[in-house]
Amino acid sequence: MSQDVILGIESSCDDTAAAVVDRDGNVLSSIIASQTHIHSRWGGVYPEFASRAHALTVVPTIERALEEANVKGPDLKAIGVTRGPGLIGSLIVGVNTAAGLGLGWNVPVIGINHLRGHLRSADLVERRVELPAIVLLVSGGHTFLARMESLTLIQLLGSTRDDSVGEAYDKVARLMGLGFPGGPAVDKLAKTGTPSIPFPRPMLNEGFEFSFSGLKSAVGRFLDKNPGVDHADVAASFVSACMEIMITKCKRALEAYPAECLVVVGGVAASPQLREGTTELCERMGVKLCLPPLKWSTDNAAMIGLAAWDYLNAGVTPPLSATASLPITEF
Ligand code: KG4
Ligand code: ZN
Repeated sequence: MSQDVILGIESSCDDTAAAVVDRDGNVLSSIIASQTHIHSRWGGVYPEFASRAHALTVVPTIERALEEANVKGPDLKAIGVTRGPGLIGSLIVGVNTAAGLGLGWNVPVIGINHLRGHLRSADLVERRVELPAIVLLVSGGHTFLARMESLTLIQLLGSTRDDSVGEAYDKVARLMGLGFPGGPAVDKLAKTGTPSIPFPRPMLNEGFEFSFSGLKSAVGRFLDKNPGVDHADVAASFVSACMEIMITKCKRALEAYPAECLVVVGGVAASPQLREGTTELCERMGVKLCLPPLKWSTDNAAMIGLAAWDYLNAGVTPPLSATASLPITEF
């Protein structure tokens, strides 16, 4: 019997994920097959290994998600699958699997922009977002500020010119031998140090764009020149620079555009320092802060499922093809 639920599938980077979500964002199941154990020895995601692992895990992950939600494939309202942006080999596994299942089950398949999925993660399980909103998306692959006027109308304010903030965290963690992914380890170490090193804050005083490669390189040079330095102070100083950049840009966006809330999503939204910093900023500016629970900050398929409901409601059907680069302004 047909059910009012969508199956979300996510395979854009290093996690294979499947989830079943209803139209209100309730999550009936969410399964993630992590590849951290495969990539940790390289200190970053190794694309070819990622796609091979997706190929092995995608069907069992989907089967588990359907089983836990007690839904049969042919009874789904639709399948939403990440079509981009991401690693092309990884995306192809998800898109082709979804296309095959959709054909076999006679269920429509919608290609979803991963970034729009992240935006919708803030409304999973509980409606939090009030519009218009300013969105800060900070992940391993992306860093940008956007303005969300409706669930489908999104304007890009500025993105990074080089590295994402998550990439900078991962690189700094690697330089200090902290393992992969680096974000949580750097945050933890930073809490025990003093932010005494004046690392640069690239583009701090300029608009809404970001740049993190100069900061990352400055940390590398400092470590080379000061081999005996306390790594906790380096981590604290690096995190402090990242925070000042992100909070300053959010403040600038909130001052420039009327907004009901600030939405902070993506893997780096799991950072306790960013959570504290944005909480303080929103209190000062009288704006509501929307932070997804930690489990929805990093990549998952529930956010793809909820975004698929938006596409379905708006009648948007982008081409079902894997696309390595896909801006937030596209579907
Ligand atoms: O959104 P995500 O799971 O994947 C992408 O779409 O990229 O983000 C992963 C990124 C990694 O760079 C990781 O180091 C970072 O999010 N991250 C964190 C924290 N947890 C994950 N960065 C800072 N603090 C954290 N607690
Ligand atoms: Zn992501």
